[in-house]
Amino acid sequence: MKIAVIGTGYVGLVTGTCFANSGNDITCIDIDEKKITGLKNGVIPIYEPGLKELVLRNAEAGRLHFTTDTPTAVKTAEMVYLAVGTPQGDDGSADLSAMWAVTKAIAPHLQEDAIVVTKSTVPVGTNAKIFGMLKELTGRECHVASNPEFLKEGAAIDDFMKPDRVVVGVRCQEVSDKLHQLYAPFLRTEKPFLSMSPESAEMTKYVANALLATKISFINEMANLCEKMGGDINDVRRGIGHDSRIGFAFLFPGVGYGGSCFPKDVRALTAMTEDKGNLPEMLRAVDNVNERQKTVLFTKVKEQFGGDLGGKRIAVWGLAFKPETDDIREAPALVLIKQLQEAGATVIAHDPEAMDNVQAETSGVEFADRAIDAIKGADALCICTDWKAYHQPDFAEMYQLMAQPIVFDGRNLYDPERMKARGYCYHSIGRVAVDGRKA
Ligand code: UDX
Repeated sequence: MKIAVIGTGYVGLVTGTCFANSGNDITCIDIDEKKITGLKNGVIPIYEPGLKELVLRNAEAGRLHFTTDTPTAVKTAEMVYLAVGTPQGDDGSADLSAMWAVTKAIAPHLQEDAIVVTKSTVPVGTNAKIFGMLKELTGRECHVASNPEFLKEGAAIDDFMKPDRVVVGVRCQEVSDKLHQLYAPFLRTEKPFLSMSPESAEMTKYVANALLATKISFINEMANLCEKMGGDINDVRRGIGHDSRIGFAFLFPGVGYGGSCFPKDVRALTAMTEDKGNLPEMLRAVDNVNERQKTVLFTKVKEQFGGDLGGKRIAVWGLAFKPETDDIREAPALVLIKQLQEAGATVIAHDPEAMDNVQAETSGVEFADRAIDAIKGADALCICTDWKAYHQPDFAEMYQLMAQPIVFDGRNLYDPERMKARGYCYHSIGRVAVDGRKA
């Protein structure tokens, strides 16, 4: 199939590349000339495992093209995927200005029976609005379908190639069949292709993300309670997870969720709920608990040092909102760094991929090329992201290098008793702090 994908951000680039890989002829379009020039030369604007190789392979095979020329690409396309950004607007709702601009830009060039597919996360009713706009602009009823994306950053290629399910929102069987055909190579493992109305498909994406965010905020609230009651959230997690109705997935406590999806989508769904006159009580709580959770490490650090962080050197490991990405959008580490700096501490940070992005957004942070270099002379170490590289550090060497062997682990990477035996003062999430330092 000949497909134009508009917007070469995370979702657009992964979508276009994976569709090209299954033999389609894909043109990825973006208004950012620098990005397109880079992509033509094999420069991938984001860090995503496996993406670069896949882009290069498909571009070389002549199945994947990059351009800023929307009219030419749309004119020959059987399908036009819309994957532009829908960021959070000032009032918490999704900002759809890019979506409307693109709809206007493609309208005059659409083939008679082209299918316009929304891949971006868009508020319920957006597909219907695009349908209305296209009718006005073209004078005919165009095919518009919703096809929400559920991929995770850091595992994007794998998620796209082997989806748990494919959801499409359509008005007619013909469009559903065409999309099914497009996805057939990805559904060989008998995973379902679910066809529903555009409204249900749009809603599905928000409900999925809101429920996942709810699980995280719930377990974080329980973790905080465990600390106060003297329980261990890790044991509790195991205690509940074996109940098949509950399970283990997405119930790891931490320093709160970040990224480009959960925060924005929970707020957009909240705004939609309010718009319709309903009270978004749970959604608001999920967001509030998460915002508070981003500050728990700082509260622990402050308490440990008697409220005074003036002159303290604090190392921070992990800046990206999660491992295997350089994405720092809504990353808990940024909140911690700001709080530490405001309290007078010096921050020395390390991240395997995200340091350049943080450097561009902060000032006064020192960066260390190696994790071990960040902790030299540090009064404490805070861990915000569970990169594999942080799972088994040389604790003995760390002990020698740190000014004080104090660790605030926001991802529960280590065993408290073993940290105590190694001589550390060790704080984690939902588990009672231990102190193995000699008096
Ligand atoms: C998420 C959804 O998983 C995906 O389906 C959707 O399309 C986009 O949003 P992503 O933002 O890439 O994907 O990351 P994900 O791996 O889901 O993690 C989100 C955040 O939750 C991270 O900050 C992570 O650290 C946190 N998290 C996740 C927890 O704190 N505990 C958990 O148990 C799981």
